[in-house]
Amino acid sequence: MLTLHKAAAALPKPSRSRMCEFLRSFGFDPGKLFLHKLILGIETSCDDTAAAVVDESGKVWGEAIHSQTEVHLKTGGIVPPVAQQLHRENIQRIVKEALSTSKISPSELSAIATTVKPGLALSLGVGLSFSLRLVDQLKIPFIPIHHMEAHALTIRLLNKVEFPFLVLLISGGHCLLALVRGVSDFLLLGKSLDIAPGDMLDKVARRLSLIKHPECSTMSGGKAIEHLAKQGNKLHFDIKPPMQRAKNCDFSFTGLQHVTDRIITQKEKEEGIQKGQILSSAAHIAAAVQHTTACHIAKRTHRAILYCKQRDLLPQSNAVLVASGGVASNFYIRKALEIVTNATQCTLLCPPPRLCTDNGIMIAWNGIERLRAGVGILYNTEGIRYEPKCPLGVDISEEVGEAAIKVPRLKMEI
Ligand code: KG4
Ligand code: ZN
Repeated sequence: MLTLHKAAAALPKPSRSRMCEFLRSFGFDPGKLFLHKLILGIETSCDDTAAAVVDESGKVWGEAIHSQTEVHLKTGGIVPPVAQQLHRENIQRIVKEALSTSKISPSELSAIATTVKPGLALSLGVGLSFSLRLVDQLKIPFIPIHHMEAHALTIRLLNKVEFPFLVLLISGGHCLLALVRGVSDFLLLGKSLDIAPGDMLDKVARRLSLIKHPECSTMSGGKAIEHLAKQGNKLHFDIKPPMQRAKNCDFSFTGLQHVTDRIITQKEKEEGIQKGQILSSAAHIAAAVQHTTACHIAKRTHRAILYCKQRDLLPQSNAVLVASGGVASNFYIRKALEIVTNATQCTLLCPPPRLCTDNGIMIAWNGIERLRAGVGILYNTEGIRYEPKCPLGVDISEEVGEAAIKVPRLKMEI
């Protein structure tokens, strides 16, 4: 027995990479043999029907997405029953497509993770009832996902980011700053007191009738503003950032929307054009509103970094700021954030734009994170409901405001 053992030890063990190569030469996919757990993620919280299969190592096996942006652009905003109908029409096809591009049969899945909060009730309902039918058929666990938690954790699929880190989530429906201390352990430092920046940019784009602009007709409002702003002069109009006196980390965007609206009305009068036609100064307006948005977001984020360092919630050097959500795919806003992180010895990390906007990968990855941490895995789905409104983590924004941290002025030369 002893000799046998020694002989076995003497034989060189093939390295994992050589074994993979060997298996590939027979047409096997080694990933399947050294199987990591696989999760199907499903997202229907707003206007994207998305699904993806991701494994524990972060490998994306397959994904599919159906965006409703073009339909909602035509109706001038999301009409919930229309979004619900489109989710219903597409969910089966999208899940099938994600599975078939993965070359994975549903029986190989370890769990299904689905967004159940927050979001549009009618949209969340479609993803949830579809998922519950599937977990029931497959007899596998269900992992309910908080949409904002998923946006916050996406970065860990791409980079080795340890907890704690600071996250700025800016999208069409959300705007918050939070300290991420663990997979489901968040401290909310600040949030928008009214609308989200993406919502404001969408409204400004609509007011500017950018859907009629030949270069922007199929773009979301925020993307259209970013595109047009490149052709404009941000100094042409002076739009002041909101909440300059409030020394907290909250945000506000309705004032910005109304000021911009007034500028547009004034310009329409001056140029003698009707509402619905494109102004000659549209690019200047887009540049000015994007600049003010970027400065406002940067300032609140700067204060959040200083607060976390002051309270030892983040390391003094090499702390990480993650920016995600649809609006974080804006490169002008990213540059403004980079000015802040350079001034505070932090590192800015942003997922690529396609992972900043809603997608199935972030939901599947959040499922993997929860599976690894052993939190929120349901073996019995009785009584599970979607929640249109649901805050993220423990709200300490009042304490942050009471600290009244003064933020040094930075030159926003973008
Ligand atoms: O994260 P997301 O796909 O959905 C929500 O959870 O809201 O974000 C969509 C929002 C829309 O308001 C859209 O106008 C905005 O993100 N957005 C952008 C850009 N791309 C999308 N805003 C600014 N710049 C962009 N490049
Ligand atoms: Zn989102």
